Amino acid sequence: MEQRGSFSLEEAEGWAKRAMDDSGEDRKYAIVVEGYDEPVGFTALYGLFRQTAPELGALIGDDVRGKGVGRRAEALTIKKAFDEFGAHRVYGRIPARNEIAKKTVASQGWKHEGTMRAHLAREGEPPDDCEVWGVLPDEFRAATADLFG
Ligand SMILES: CC(C)(COP(=O)(O)OP(=O)(O)OC[C@H]1O[C@@H](n2cnc3c(N)ncnc32)[C@H](O)[C@@H]1OP(=O)(O)O)[C@@H](O)C(=O)NCCC(=O)NCCS
Repeated sequence: MEQRGSFSLEEAEGWAKRAMDDSGEDRKYAIVVEGYDEPVGFTALYGLFRQTAPELGALIGDDVRGKGVGRRAEALTIKKAFDEFGAHRVYGRIPARNEIAKKTVASQGWKHEGTMRAHLAREGEPPDDCEVWGVLPDEFRAATADLFG
């Protein structure tokens, strides 16, 4: 959700190393797609194993967006949250203007649960609203039956 002004190769290497560390309460997954040598993006679950629900994160590389990769990668990740990690709910904070991110989760059974007004203050722009979306296991399974059969 937050954007960096710059991101050096060293910072990227540090990020990737930390992303592979599965000793804590976060998990990150590289997205691998046929026909691409390198991962095309990642998904994440933040704050697993708590009484509060984990949060989903996702970022798809520019050249593969809009081809169904995000929906499928998010669904595989949420399935892990429920089936592997026993989550009782998954939620996400989505900038109100990010219609594509909202559409992606809506098609997986998520509901818009509330709006944090003026939550997101990016430099040089007026603060933007941020929406809270969430999904319960049964809603997710019903909405993604086509993906998992
Ligand atoms: C949001 C994101 C993960 C979606 O992944 P994607 O691979 O681009 O999306 P998909 O191709 O799986 O499409 C998902 C939905 O968005 C719609 N969509 C995708 N690109 C679109 C576009 N350019 N215009 C309108 N709708 C679009 C699809 O039609 C689909 O909707 P449907 O399920 O109702 O048919 C990806 O665009 C992304 O990484 N965005 C930047 C980071 C981000 O916003 N992360 C989200 C958390 S805040």
